[in-house]
Amino acid sequence: MTMPANTTDKLPRNDEAPANRVTSSKGIPKKTMSNREMVERTLAAVWHPCTQMKSHETFPPLPIVGGEGAWLIDADGHRYLDGISSWWVNLFGHCNPKINSALHEQIERLEHVILAGFTHEPVIALSERLSALTNHELGHCFYASDGSSAVEIALKMSMHYWRNIGQPNKTRFATISGGYHGETVGALSVSDVALFRDAYAPLLRESIAVKSPDWRDASEGESAADYAVRAAHDLEQLLETQMAEIAAVIVEPLVQCANRMAMHDPEYLRRVRVACDRHGVHLIADEIAVGFGRTGTFFAHQAAGVIPDLMTLSKGITGGYMPLSVVLCRDQIFQAFYADEISRGFLHSHSYTGNALACSAALAVLDIFESDDVLSTNRARARNILAASQPLQDHLRVHNLRQTGMITAFDVQTDDPLFSRRYHFAALEEGLMLRPIGNTVYFMPPYVITDTDIEHMISGARRALLSTLA
Ligand SMILES: Cc1ncc(COP(=O)(O)O)c(C=O)c1O
Repeated sequence: MTMPANTTDKLPRNDEAPANRVTSSKGIPKKTMSNREMVERTLAAVWHPCTQMKSHETFPPLPIVGGEGAWLIDADGHRYLDGISSWWVNLFGHCNPKINSALHEQIERLEHVILAGFTHEPVIALSERLSALTNHELGHCFYASDGSSAVEIALKMSMHYWRNIGQPNKTRFATISGGYHGETVGALSVSDVALFRDAYAPLLRESIAVKSPDWRDASEGESAADYAVRAAHDLEQLLETQMAEIAAVIVEPLVQCANRMAMHDPEYLRRVRVACDRHGVHLIADEIAVGFGRTGTFFAHQAAGVIPDLMTLSKGITGGYMPLSVVLCRDQIFQAFYADEISRGFLHSHSYTGNALACSAALAVLDIFESDDVLSTNRARARNILAASQPLQDHLRVHNLRQTGMITAFDVQTDDPLFSRRYHFAALEEGLMLRPIGNTVYFMPPYVITDTDIEHMISGARRALLSTLA
């Protein structure tokens, strides 16, 4: 396949020695292919995720050949600040020396071994440390490779738990409107994004969605906490009437990221916890996007002082290095599977479950959290991002500037259905990688972003806004 002549013309200009030309000590990565050649070959060979491939005729993918800290580098040496942590996975920068060295060390010893009937040090250490981070309230780590698989595991575990304790009718799941839990059939069944669901509706199980606590839906004069109480009432009523068939409620604590960074008050989680306890329903905290300090506390649910029954983690777990996900559960759930009969066991598996390299990257991530006092440094970083973002609100079409920890977002009033893509390209021209969701622009940078980078990110975002809306 060849591309229409104008396709690569849309790539940021590379030929005029722009300000964002690479100047790092690492230098420009050794070139094997030009930007143009990579675009042509990727479009012929690779089916890119979450993409209408035809749109690449007008909006080509950007070839990246290197990374350094919060920055990505393309084949022509341009640098782009990674304002979205490469789909919310990167925590401590690209090519982080500590994670690199942990991986080098591990690869000399053991890259992978089947985890059924075998074990290894990195998976044991990681499981113990993750459990300790929940104060040992959760544990029995069950691993997979991506977020959606972790969600599948949590759903199956919950339903199978009820079956094992003699309540086989509890097979349904309650979800929050606008929630997103992944693309596999089970995860999509508990997600509420029409664009992703509709084509696959015949494959999906029906879940029951309740009101989202998104504070943007609060009435005039109603606080976020009051609105959280009102939204929780919807769930309380549902559980009261349908507790006999509902196995679990699945929630993204504090921020529904894919729902245009919908943020809510921690009071919502406290109410959900009480309702779940009262009606004998599991609370699944999907912390795939919000765990590992993203919202301020190590796990987002900790801001509410509650403990879920099951928790899913992925994305930041390896600092954005390796595919890894995990489900932690309460001991009571594990014990319901612990029996002589094989069929009472949790007979789920993935080939790469507990991959040793991925676990060693995750251990390096936990080491960095311990040695660098990341959570308190992030509090200062987040304050700087919010302060630097204030002038954005001067634009008449910018609304709802909001922040939870290291996630900052604002909504742009526009009818342009291509706003997101046009903004994305305008930001690239500014040496900045942002990827609005609909008309919501957000910053979710790696935790190594410096004050100078923050200035670059916010001023680039403002210029991209002006040029997109012009
Ligand atoms: C809250 C949440 N759950 C699950 C997923 C799915 O994870 P993955 O894309 O790794 O399958 C995502 C992905 O964005 C997510 O944000």
